[in-house]
Amino acid sequence: MKPFFITLADEIQYNMKTHYFTPTLALFLGLLMFASCEYDFVEPAPLPPLPEPGDTTSFALEVAPIFETDACISCHNGGIEFDLTAENAYSSIASRNLAVPFKPEESAIYTYPHPQTGEHSAKYKSNAHVNTIFTWIMQGALDN
Ligand code: HEC
Repeated sequence: MKPFFITLADEIQYNMKTHYFTPTLALFLGLLMFASCEYDFVEPAPLPPLPEPGDTTSFALEVAPIFETDACISCHNGGIEFDLTAENAYSSIASRNLAVPFKPEESAIYTYPHPQTGEHSAKYKSNAHVNTIFTWIMQGALDN
């Protein structure tokens, strides 16, 4: 006779002996399957870390070189559209309001070529690059 209250280990033994799934064990297995499905979702784009206080991202040393390494300047060189070459990048971005201080979500220079969510035909080539742009905007989009 099966006792009224048995532990899970006892129950597995009981099931093995009888080749019969008790409702409690069936429920436990069901829950396990359900729990393993819970992780089956699409990962959102990773959010960049917020800048540390006192840590400053330099436009000239860190941001502008990205426009060169990511080949933005093959088009944005003053010929097509605006100029992202090192000497003119800041004034072009400022005059077109492409970087809104402290608001990366409203800054086309961050959102439009974003590698995951951007709609530009050309994109930043790494998350590290777009994270640098994000940090620079969060620090006030300075000409530094
Ligand atoms: C193949 C040429 C080409 C390349 C490479 C390119 N762009 Fe562009 N970009 C354009 C053109 C053309 C437009 C305007 C039409 C449009 O919106 O797509 C534009 C528009 C933009 C805009 C929107 C400007 C506005 O007024 O809203 C931003 C920001 C931008 N580019 C940034 C970049 C960055 C950053 C890179 C490098 C990761 C890049 N682009 C690479 C051709 C290019």
